[in-house]
Parts: sequence; C-alpha cells; structure tokens
Amino acid sequence: MRLKHLLIFGALFAVSCAAPAGDEIDRKVEDLLAKMTLEEKIGQMNQVSGGYQFSGEIAKGNVGSILNIVDPVEINAVQRVAVEESRLGIPLLVSRDVIHGFRTIFPIPIGLAATFDPALVEQGARVAAVEATASGVRWTFSPMLDIARDPRWGRIAEGSGEDPYLDTQMGVAMVKGYQGEDFTDPTSMAACIKHFVGYGAAEGGRDYNTTMISERALRNTYFPAFKACVEAGALTLMTSFNDVDGLPSTGNEWLLRDILREEWGFDGMVVTDWNSSGEMVAHGFAEDLKHATELSINAGVDMDMMSFGYVQYVKALVDEGKIKAETIDNAVRNILKLKFRLGLFENPYVDESLARQVAYAPEHLAAAKQSAVESAILLQNNNDVLPLKSAKRILVTGPMADAPYDQLGTWAFDGEEAYTVTPLTALRKDYEVVYEPALAYSRDASTAGIPAAVAAARSVDAVVAFVGEEAILSGEAHSLSQINLQGAQSELIKALKATGKPIVVVVIAGRNLTIERDLENCDAMLYSFHPGTMGGEALADLITGRAVPSGKSPVTFLRDAGQAPFYYNHPMTGRPNSGTETLLNDIPLKAGQTSLGCTSYYLDTGYGPLFPFGYGLSYTKFEYANIAIDKAEYAEGDTIVVEYDLTNTGNYDATEVAQLYVRDLVGSVVRPVKELKRFERVELKAGETKHCRFELPVAELAFWNRDMEYVVEPGNFQLWVAGDSATGEPLAFAVK
Ligand code: GLC
Repeated sequence: MRLKHLLIFGALFAVSCAAPAGDEIDRKVEDLLAKMTLEEKIGQMNQVSGGYQFSGEIAKGNVGSILNIVDPVEINAVQRVAVEESRLGIPLLVSRDVIHGFRTIFPIPIGLAATFDPALVEQGARVAAVEATASGVRWTFSPMLDIARDPRWGRIAEGSGEDPYLDTQMGVAMVKGYQGEDFTDPTSMAACIKHFVGYGAAEGGRDYNTTMISERALRNTYFPAFKACVEAGALTLMTSFNDVDGLPSTGNEWLLRDILREEWGFDGMVVTDWNSSGEMVAHGFAEDLKHATELSINAGVDMDMMSFGYVQYVKALVDEGKIKAETIDNAVRNILKLKFRLGLFENPYVDESLARQVAYAPEHLAAAKQSAVESAILLQNNNDVLPLKSAKRILVTGPMADAPYDQLGTWAFDGEEAYTVTPLTALRKDYEVVYEPALAYSRDASTAGIPAAVAAARSVDAVVAFVGEEAILSGEAHSLSQINLQGAQSELIKALKATGKPIVVVVIAGRNLTIERDLENCDAMLYSFHPGTMGGEALADLITGRAVPSGKSPVTFLRDAGQAPFYYNHPMTGRPNSGTETLLNDIPLKAGQTSLGCTSYYLDTGYGPLFPFGYGLSYTKFEYANIAIDKAEYAEGDTIVVEYDLTNTGNYDATEVAQLYVRDLVGSVVRPVKELKRFERVELKAGETKHCRFELPVAELAFWNRDMEYVVEPGNFQLWVAGDSATGEPLAFAVK
C-alpha cells in the first residue's frame, strides 16, 4: 500500500523556490556567519522549550531553536519574531518528540520493530513527518537507536530492541521516512538519532544509571545503527544522559569528535539531551554549569537543550580563552547549515490551515493499522483457539480493553485519545460483546470487579481479556524492578481460566513483561506493544482471522526479571548451560558443593528465556527445507548465497519473517552465539512453497577484534535460516 496521497499533500505545499545546494549552502552560511556577533552566534546554540517564547529573547537573537510548541498559529507567530524582529532574521528550528506518529499514533517503536518491516516503518515515519510538518514542526527527536537488553528499563519501549542489525534497519527506515529525499520539501522533518551512546545499558535497568561498556562492545553493538544512520544522511544527533565508563556522553570528545566527526564523517548538528550539559554537574564531572558548558562545547556539542549554560557562559569562556572562537563558529556553521538545508530561510512559515487537513487522513490511519497488525506477536495458541471464528458471543474484559489514552503508549504527546479505536469498540462490530472490565486500570489491585467478569464468562462462547500496562508505566524515568502484570490482572486471568471457557489474553504494554504465569492460564496470548490509534481495529482483525499474526519479538521474553539483562546474541561463556541442570526443587538435601554441575544457569528459573528473540507464531505453520549455501569455503570478497524453500503448510494465507543468523565459532575475542544478518517477510498462500534466497557479503562478518581492527577473521562459521533465533539446524562454512 503506497501513501500516494501523502505525496500529493507534499507536492501541493512544496514551495517553488528550491533551497541552495551544498556548496551554495556553505557560501550562504559563511556570508551569514561573517555578519554575526558572538552573542548572536551563541544565541543560535541555545534551544528553549515552549513558554520561553514570551521571554523576549527570540527578538534579541538569543534563541536558535524551540521545542514543544505544536500549534501552527503559535509557531508562525514565534517564527515571525525571529525572522522579522531579530537583527539578522535567522529562522528558528521548531522541534518536537515525534516518536511514533504525530496525530495518527503508530505502535511504539519496539512494536514497529516487531513488524520486521522496514518499508512499512518508513511509510509510518513519512506519515508522521507529513502531519508534524503541517503544524510547523521541522525537526523530530527520533529515531531512538538505543540497544536495550533489559525490560526493567522503561525506555525499551522507544527503541528497536536488542539486536544491532534490526536496530539499524529500523533506524535507517525512520531517518529516510522523516527526512524524505528533498530536505527543502516542507514535509521533510530532520531526524535526530539518539541517544548517543549506550543509554540502554543502564545498570539494573534503572533509567539514567551509569553504564560500563567497553570500546569493543560500543563498536560491535552500540555504534552500528548510529553509523548506518549517519551514512543514510541523518541530519542531527542527540547526546545521551548517561556516562559510559565514567564519561558523560555530552562531555565525551572521543565520541563526539573522534568517532562521530573524524571516523564517520558526520556533517550534521549535535544537540544535547534536555539539560544533559548541566547534568554533568550532578554527575560530578563538571564543577558548575560554566564548567559543564566548557566541557560540552569543547567535546563537540553544537546546541544546548535547556541548560541555559551556553547563553550564560560562552562569551566569558571565549574571553577567558577556554573555548576557541573557531569552535563556536563551527558549531554555528552546523546549525545554520541545517536551517539552510531545510529551506527555512526561503520558507520559514507553515500554512496554518494544513494541520487539520492532513491529520488522521485515511491513508495515515490505514498505515497505522497495518503497522499495528504486523507488530502483534502471537506467543501462544493452544488448540488453535485463535482466530475466534466459531464464537458468536464473547466476553471482553480487562483494563486495556477500552483504554484510548493508554493504548497510545509513551511519547504520544500529540495523539488524541478521541481518535483511538479501542479493542472494545472494534470487537463490537464482529461479535455480540458482553463487556466487564473487572479492573479500572492496569495497576488496579482490587479484585472486586472479577466476580462480575467471571459470571459474565459463563454466558459467552469465549473470553478475550485485554491486560497490560498504562502508558505511564513505560518510557522515560519509568523503570520497574519487577515486570509481571501489575495489580490484580493475573488474578483476573486465573479466575477466568477457571470458568473453562476458551480464553484469549491480549497484552497491550510498553515492554516485554514476564508473563509466564499468565500463559498457563490462557489458551492464546497475543502481544501488542502499545499499538496506537488504530490498535483496536488491528487487534479485531487478528482476533477474527481477517489478518494473520506475523510479528516477531525484537527482544527476549524473560521468565523472571532476575534474568535481566538477557539477549540472544550473547557470548557462549566457558561453562555454557547444558539444559539438564538440576533446578531448585529437585536439589537433594545436603547436596554436595559441586553436585549440580558448574554451568551458567539459575537454580530457580534454569537458563533459557520464555521466548527467544525473533519468536512469533502464526495461525498457520511454516516449514523450512532445502537450506543450502553455494560454497563450503569463501574468500573475503565473496558473497554467501543462501537458498531455502519455505512452505506454508497450514490453512491460512500468511507471512513469515525468515531470519538468517551466523555464528563465528572462534575469534580473537569471544563472539556471540548467534547474530542476525538478514531477514525477509515472505508472503505465502495456504499450501504454497516459495524458493527463497539471502545474499550475505562475507565482508558483513567483520567485527572489531582483539587489536581493535574491523576485520573478517578467517575460520569456521555456522549459519541458520529459521523463524526465530532458537530453532533450525546450522550449516557449516569457512572463510579462508
Ligand atoms: C527527554 C528525552 C529525549 C527527548 C528530549 C526532549 O528527556 O531523554 O529523548 O527527545 O528530552 O523532549
């Protein structure tokens, strides 16, 4: 489905005056820079939030960007002050966290990652850009590229999960979708790749906490998506709150100059996270805000989000020789270049009638619905209870069945719950519905409402319980030490199970919760990471069978929070678990010290996760056969050709996400037991077989090795093609 009408909107409002090309932009930047006073240069480096537009500072040229105003009339008014009242008339960069949609809200990014559909994710980002730019927002603080391996961390909701390859594919798709081809097109919205770097490795899954990541782990795991997005043309980057091995990213010159500028050639603009410059004082890395300002600017930050350190101290720091004038000029060059590239000088204002015209366009809602359909992960389907075809009268229950605000998820600032289609609303079109929420909200610990739901269950053909998390339980600063269903939700499920009716549980949440105890009390479980505006219609299509689940998990589902951090692409360790370890309740009394076998596992939960990365069921079954590679031994310049036959052996037309994994058996440093290297969505009619193919350049087996060189090391490898990271038989090959 192409969003052709979006292009019409874009064309209708594209201005005739094209912005200057590269060299011409540089010339314009230099011309303007030469006219600027130091104060005006510092002003460009200052980003303020909504409310500060009334401070009078914009007219003085002391503000370069503003975030968190989204009304087009207000934005034009603020822009007019900058353009028509300040001495040089430099337009503002208007920015917002458009993280998974603007008005039309898409699934939260971890849900978008579960689609394994970069093309669809790119379309969604394009929709977000069309709606946001129609309001006057030309810069979003997205995509979030933080690798996350710990679901206690609330911001796992905002990224693409635990795998660098999937993270890269999704990040690049969003950058392209937001920015489009022509940055001067009024629907082009500058992307901001964030949070650079390592924010998702917060110790204990506790937000903002310290991280200890080696350079090699940075290069092999945390950098790849950022580097790819730089190469894809991301226009801006945001530094992260956290320290990496004692260095807060906002003051880390190695990151911001040596890696980002020198190694990767990034020519965009670097902005801090909210007051992350000032927070270096709290970190104990800066004496005071003035020192923090000196550190962040000298480290390579161009723009200061809301510390106000730049406007207060940069002039003095330059006068004191602690910051070179050239450093300021280079920062301002990056800012002005962005404004010219976006065509802001030629076209600073927005058509104030546009926002409401494009919001919730049918094509936008359709894209959001398709994204929600493809993001849902079928975790269990005992007795093929789903799809609910024979049921006529169903009980819809649970606190997430009709939660239009919470269904939108975290970072949905500009979504409007009035437009949310909830599962209850949607299912009423397909079934005779008895509705008993039982709980008022996800944290509701009262069991008083459960008897009514149990009683109602007795009169229906099947039960569908919508549980999960309110939006506030995930996202920034919302870490949890335990990640079971909150409140009395599990009690509700257990009570409903006791009725003996077929029970489907739909989890609508912002993280991969520990849901093992709930699985035991339901026949089927569908997992929907906060699915957004059209989530109800998407889930109704899946429940009825109009759509077939294809989602695959972008993270590992744990059996217990105590297993975190857990991720599929881990090293083997020297004592890998055997899978036959003795568990807690089987340990004999007075067991000998070493009698349990000294391997890597937990006495209580064993070793493995509940569901592995890449896992997701369908209403049909898929069979992988005739998996073959074209050689047994490859040279570095070769491309590995992998062929396989994929058959849909069931009765539903469906899509499978086939995944290609590789293992480097021996390296100069220990290597992951598996690494995702390719995936593809394969549509198959019931009974159909397709002959499929992956191509993988040997060069993509490279990694940062013991000598910190990015190389392919000769040796033996294994390769899998399967429907998740835990199944399939390996094929062996060698690189000579
Ligand atoms: C927040 C977040 C960042 C966001 C910024 C602006 O604290 O860390 O992701 O883009 O501030 O809202």
